[in-house]
Parts: sequence; structure tokens; C-alpha cells
Amino acid sequence: MSFSLNSPYSSGLRVEEASAPVIPEPGRPLISFRGIEKSFGENKVLIGVDLEVNQGETMVILGRSGCGKTVLTSMLVGLNPPDAGVIAVEGVEITDFVTDTDWRNLRLKTGYLFQGSALYDSMTVGENVAFPMVQHTDWSEAEIERRVAEKLGQVGLEGVEPLDPTALSGGMQRRAALARSLALDPQIIIYDEPTAGLDPITGDEIGQLLQSLQKVLKVTSIVVSHDLRLTELVADRLVLLHEGQWAFQGTYEEFLHSSHPEVLRFLHREPKGETTT
Ligand SMILES: Nc1ncnc2c1ncn2[C@@H]1O[C@H](COP(=O)(O)OP(=O)(O)OP(=O)(O)O)[C@@H](O)[C@H]1O
Ligand SMILES: [Mg+2]
Repeated sequence: MSFSLNSPYSSGLRVEEASAPVIPEPGRPLISFRGIEKSFGENKVLIGVDLEVNQGETMVILGRSGCGKTVLTSMLVGLNPPDAGVIAVEGVEITDFVTDTDWRNLRLKTGYLFQGSALYDSMTVGENVAFPMVQHTDWSEAEIERRVAEKLGQVGLEGVEPLDPTALSGGMQRRAALARSLALDPQIIIYDEPTAGLDPITGDEIGQLLQSLQKVLKVTSIVVSHDLRLTELVADRLVLLHEGQWAFQGTYEEFLHSSHPEVLRFLHREPKGETTT
């Protein structure tokens, strides 16, 4: 396998140059969204989202399609900047970031599993996983090769480096994309719909994988999903986004017992006093 260390995509920023992280104590807010607003033209997507994710916690964001889950979480990697509000990571207001270097430093510690895997078809699986390392580090080819194998091993995909992504099943592609998001040993991982489009058994396997990564890597995670099985498996807490704000915030157990009408609708239960026709 060969990885170009002079990638045309290279940012020139090296992991070693990134500022040393200030790691808050477990249970302290690591990520906070305060008063986040976002519109696209007349479409008011977020109208005041407040949310804190604690160090080491897995927060699941549930909500109907189009409610703004991807828009909200992608703000953490500099996409879709909010119109108003503040986002802070480790106490640093990323909404104040102006330089590319600030964003690159944050991206070095933030893994992002894009909705739908988004592996690069023009690269092998190994090159896909190596990509962030080639982009952001000056690790030797041998070191990158070793780490690619390690990351693929962590997601249960040994020996697939030379394959084209299209040669993998949907579940394997999701694992490979997950390996790529782990490439730089992130402290924060955002998973956007990690089980969407997978059969329930493969979805459960991905859920168990997320759970074991949580235990082993002790990262802080945000999981965007519609999948209640996955939510039950991985959520320390969850929020339900609805009409631009969160309608519910709490544990999965509390969610199941909530009488909030949107929670009931989400769980396909009838709000009290309403009858089906
Ligand atoms: N770049 C954009 N330009 C215009 N509108 C956008 C853009 N990105 C998102 N939107 C709109 O913002 C809203 C929220 O989109 P988002 O992708 O966050 O939804 P979602 O909750 O992630 O949905 P899904 O569960 O289907 O992935 C949608 O109405 C979408 O059309
Ligand atoms: Mg989405």
C-alpha cells in the first residue's frame, strides 16, 4: 500500500503542532450550544437550541427528518455556521474562530462520521482510512500503514485495505467510515445516522461497536439517529429536536415515560386525550 505524503489536500498542519487540549474533568460540559439559531432563507431550522454534552458522555440527538440534526452537529466541524448563538468546546468559543488553523486544530480532535458513510470511491479502503493521517500528520508511510490496520481492526475489518469501497457491504462501508473517523484518535466523535439504511442485525452490530468504542476510547460522542434500538444501547442522555428546539432532554428511560406530545408521537403512541380515527 502506498500513501502519498505530499497529498494535494494536505493542510500543512501537523498533529504535533496542534495546541495541547485542556481536558475537562469527567462529567463537566465539554461541548455547549447556547441559543443556536439557523435559517436558510425563510426556512427557520433552529430557533434557539441549548445543549450541553459532558466529557465522556454519549448524547443522542433524535428528531424527525429535516428537523436540523445534521445542520446542528455539523456546526462542530465548521459547516453551517449558526446565525446566532455560541458554541464552545473545552470552554473555547468556536463560534469566534476566524482562522483556518483554529478549525484545523478542532478537526484534529473531532471525528465525524458523515451521514451515509461518504467513503471516497477513487481511493482504496486503506487510503480512505489513511486520508486524515496523510492530511494532518507527518507520520511515515510504515506508521500510517500500521495505524490504518489498527483502526480497521478496532472496527472488526481486518485485511480490507486494498479493496475498493464498492466491494464492501453497506455495514462494512459504515465500519470503514468509522475507522476513518477514528484515524487521528479523536476526543470527540460525531456519528450522523450510523445505522441508517442497514438491516436491524447489522445495525445492532454497529451499535455494539459504538458501545465498545465508548468504553475503550472514552471519547465524548454525539450520535444523530432515528434508531431507538441504537439509542437504548448507547445513549447516556438524549434530546429530541422538534420545531427548532429540543422538546425533550433526559435519559432513555425518562424518554420512554415522558408524556410530552412530540415524544409520544415519536414513539408512535397517542398523547393522552387524543384518539385515533
Ligand atoms: N445548505 C442548505 N441550504 C438550504 N437548506 C438547507 C441546507 N442544509 C440543510 N437545509 C435545510 O435545513 C433543514 C434541516 O436539515 P438537516 O439536514 O439538518 O435535517 P436532518 O434532521 O439531519 O434530517 P435527516 O434525518 O433527514 O438527515 C432541512 O429543511 C433542509 O432542507
Ligand atoms: Mg441528517
